[in-house]
Amino acid sequence: MSTSSPTESHHPHAGAAVLAELDAGLRASHPCISPKFLYDALGSRLFEAICELPEYYPTRTEASIFARHGAAMAREVGPGRTLIDLGAGNCAKAASLFPLLHPAQYVAIDISADFVRESLERLHQRFPHIEMTALGLDFSNALDLPGVVRREKRLFFYPGSSIGNFTPGQAGAFLRRARAQCDDDGALLIGIDLVKDSATLDAAYDDALGVTAAFNLNILRHVNHLAGADFDVRQWRHSGRYNALESRIEMHLEAREDLTVNWRGGQRAFRAGARIHTENSYKYRQSAAVGLLEQAGFQATGVWTDPAGWFAVIHARAIAP
Ligand code: AVJ
Repeated sequence: MSTSSPTESHHPHAGAAVLAELDAGLRASHPCISPKFLYDALGSRLFEAICELPEYYPTRTEASIFARHGAAMAREVGPGRTLIDLGAGNCAKAASLFPLLHPAQYVAIDISADFVRESLERLHQRFPHIEMTALGLDFSNALDLPGVVRREKRLFFYPGSSIGNFTPGQAGAFLRRARAQCDDDGALLIGIDLVKDSATLDAAYDDALGVTAAFNLNILRHVNHLAGADFDVRQWRHSGRYNALESRIEMHLEAREDLTVNWRGGQRAFRAGARIHTENSYKYRQSAAVGLLEQAGFQATGVWTDPAGWFAVIHARAIAP
């Protein structure tokens, strides 16, 4: 097993690029913090807790689709793949598919480098015959896989509807970058959350226990660490709601009072009620999801959903140019 962390080695602590990105977002007329900053070590654990919540249907629903249709998916995928897990986290989803998919190599990529490395070390003890590599990479703006990743039979695994964090335009660009990173034998196995009634969506992103609130607020602690900021978490309130016009959940943090925030190289006053946009989570219609893949150079060859049609897992093959 090999591990490497380009993100960390090039940018010890918060690098100039991360600081510049945070600074630009905090100064913007509509202030924002990228959702990738939700995932420090604690944020990754809070997300794991979200996946256990009764209101948060995506993880459970997707798991039921894998459980019911895993064999059909495995026939579509075929053995001996280079399984590239985009946003691997605790690696549990991919690991549960190993006995079905029989990959030759498993490449776990996550922005939270230490978290994914620890997860992979445990996993390699359970599956010593599968070659494994952990990569601490932010793949949201660029996807350049190092030489340790086998070129042949790449299968990009992008479950959990993480694609929903991108706008449809960004999602298309991201999928085209994935297409460019595989040969004509490349493929994609992706989980996409589907449009449904807004009450179900609202509850999933504003749960009764307040775990999603903690997850969202924790981004401020992470930014304090990364940018030397002085956000006081107690001065902010979580908001997570479905915007039907845009077909997306929006998460915001709302100031409870007038306040000022300082960070390395900047300062901003927020009035009570002012908001910082922290996440979009787009929901697609099945036909739109298939169309998005086609636009990016992938032909859907299998679409599996749950009986209620809440979530879709799609297998798509690279289209020869
Ligand atoms: C990991 C991006 C798929 O959008 O549902 C969960 C993140 N945010 N609760 C999602 C999330 C709030 C999640 N994704």
